[in-house]
Amino acid sequence: MSAAPELPPGPRLPGPAQALLWGLRYPEFTRAAHRRFGTTFTVRPGTMPPAVLTSDPDATRRLFTGDPLGKRHGNDVVRPLLDDRSLMLLEPAEHLARRKLLLPPFHGERVRGYAATMQRLMDREVERWRAGDTVAMLTVAQNVTIEVILDAVLGVTDAETRRRFRRLVDDLLFYPLGTLRLRLSERLSSGITPPRRFREAAAFAASLPTPAVMTYFPETKRRSALNFAILRWWKHHGRLHALLDEHIAATRADPRLAERDDILAMLVQARDEDGDALSGEDLRNDLITLIAAGHETTAAAIAWGGVLLAHNPAVRERATVAAREHDDQYLGALVKEVLRIRSPIPIAAGRVLDEPFPIGPHVVPPGTLVLIDAWAIHHDPELYPDPERFEPERFLGEPPAPYTWLPFGGGAHRCLGSSLAELEIKVGLGTILRRTGIEPADRELTPRARRGVVVVPYGGGRVRIGAG
Ligand code: HEM
Repeated sequence: MSAAPELPPGPRLPGPAQALLWGLRYPEFTRAAHRRFGTTFTVRPGTMPPAVLTSDPDATRRLFTGDPLGKRHGNDVVRPLLDDRSLMLLEPAEHLARRKLLLPPFHGERVRGYAATMQRLMDREVERWRAGDTVAMLTVAQNVTIEVILDAVLGVTDAETRRRFRRLVDDLLFYPLGTLRLRLSERLSSGITPPRRFREAAAFAASLPTPAVMTYFPETKRRSALNFAILRWWKHHGRLHALLDEHIAATRADPRLAERDDILAMLVQARDEDGDALSGEDLRNDLITLIAAGHETTAAAIAWGGVLLAHNPAVRERATVAAREHDDQYLGALVKEVLRIRSPIPIAAGRVLDEPFPIGPHVVPPGTLVLIDAWAIHHDPELYPDPERFEPERFLGEPPAPYTWLPFGGGAHRCLGSSLAELEIKVGLGTILRRTGIEPADRELTPRARRGVVVVPYGGGRVRIGAG
């Protein structure tokens, strides 16, 4: 007879301590718990209900397969930002129907059409660099990934509207330092080399880990007159909504809509099986989701790629040859290895089941959030020998075994933008390798910091530009 449902044991530290450790000492906290409790344990960060973290291969497979209607998303923590009608927050049946509508523009074929846009944006960044400069990779990559979203996802062509979007997205996603960050990054990309203290302040603002800890205290985002620390955030939220509504209305009315190839233009024209279009609210919530899910994650991956290449001369040499010879296979393996060793979203997926869920000797009670610890899977020496070694060759032969490479999660909620993200990272790193040389700016490999749920290089991931 199987055991009665019960939460597996886990660290007994109080919630605030677990939030601090998870936010500021990742992945040391989960790695220590893994050593002590095994592949499956319960965590209690902040004021969130207890959640079960697992890297058990069989549980991972079962969470990603089987009946999608019996598994709910585990994304409630991002509800204040994305809103109830976001794809990520829909209940299973409605989620399946919405995904059918959203999927076509994210297909590999369609996405490849955006390569030229990315190349142009990346070239523009790299052209500003001079040998001897120290560059914060994260700031550069954020500039590129937001521009890709404005072009490829939203189809914003007017310069003033682009500027308004950039400002509001920064205000909201990088609250409370968004405006400072943008101003500093504008100085950084103005063509003149700003004073060192500006560069350092920009890098610091780009990588501050504090918001990561707040993620685990959902009440800090609650809209209330008493919660005055967050009132400005809600103001930015309202302004971004208004701008998106304006832009959606302009897109619907665009006489050249049928010729446009941005994702919004396709979504405005999409119809479900009953011939119904997406409502304004659904579109607005999904656009915020695409901006939030696609911007910082991809920027973090490009930044990590730059830092890892700077610190690994042998890989850099081989990758430079591959970039110059347009060896797509090696560059593809490079992207996969960056996403393995520094997954921007290390907890790749969360699901809530409506039935008891057995994992090894445990039976997790129904209604519990089960999180998949992709970081632990990606650093398991049985799956990836010498896991701390940066070695793109791992991905040149056979593809990784199913459910062992999970930077984009899996199953019904698997990342919609994975092809776009892999292409962006490939073009980003390929351009850097082809056009400049990069070297480490610091002796040690840049440490990790968490911003929200994303793992970024601390200090923005500084690299030194070589002669090329
Ligand atoms: C390196 C970059 C990226 C990483 C590491 C990443 C990672 C992830 C992960 C781990 C999930 C959750 C999957 C799950 O629950 O199983 C996810 C979901 C999602 N991602 Fe990404 N992502 C990236 C880039 C993008 C881009 C560029 C876009 C689009 C512009 C995007 C759009 C989405 C959407 C819409 C979802 C929700 C899917 C759903 O709930 O059905 N992502 N992503």
